[in-house]
Amino acid sequence: MTTAATADAQRGAAIYTPRTLRVYDRFVLGFSNDHAWRCPSTRLLRNYDEHIGARHLEIGVGTGYFLDRCRFPVEQPQVVLGDLNPNTLEATLARLQRYHPTTHQLNVLEPFSLPEAPFDSIALNYLLHCLPGDMHSKAAVFEHCASQLRPGGVLFGSTILGQGVRHNLIGRALMSLYNSKGIFGNRNDDLETLRAGLSRNFARVELEQVGVVAVFAAHRAG
Ligand SMILES: C[S@@+](CC[C@H](N)C(=O)[O-])C[C@H]1O[C@@H](n2cnc3c(N)ncnc32)[C@H](O)[C@@H]1O
Repeated sequence: MTTAATADAQRGAAIYTPRTLRVYDRFVLGFSNDHAWRCPSTRLLRNYDEHIGARHLEIGVGTGYFLDRCRFPVEQPQVVLGDLNPNTLEATLARLQRYHPTTHQLNVLEPFSLPEAPFDSIALNYLLHCLPGDMHSKAAVFEHCASQLRPGGVLFGSTILGQGVRHNLIGRALMSLYNSKGIFGNRNDDLETLRAGLSRNFARVELEQVGVVAVFAAHRAG
């Protein structure tokens, strides 16, 4: 990646400070999901419950809300956390102490290889819309993740769309603010380019639009 692209990626992640993380669950996962994006957090939690595996990598961890609440298929899962921002890694590590997670600072836009791989599942929840670039360039992320999954493993998550969807008033205001500040980079993100990127890298793709959010699960060939 160029230095400018790395700087853009860092700008998107830098908003997550200890102070903003304290209000994240209530504002983003409570208010915004219900009133702006029209995709309740319970729907996103269901995606976790349906797809999370015993050896799991979470990328773009935020506050660790969904990992804290989801049902793992085993009592003692192996949980690995990856993020560009050390603040989110620290907050999520503290919240999930019961699973003794390991952490890695990484930029998902660049190829990576983790010692704990291969994983049964990888989650990218509400990460893609934070990345700079268009859906074509973001699709590189799917290749990076697929390389870390076992055969039959699943990549799942969700992302807020900017094209081909009808944003309401609150959504338009937040989209405009976040895109102008580089917190979001999703003005041109649409469902079909997302589907094409996932389909190029995975054998089977499930994709549903809920409100203005694309909820997905993509399976590697077994
Ligand atoms: C909107 S939060 C999502 C948090 C959580 N997954 C959720 O669903 O609530 C985006 C997260 O992605 C991280 N992030 C942003 N850009 C990244 C990048 N290029 N590589 C890795 N993590 C990144 C941010 O630091 C933040 O933790």
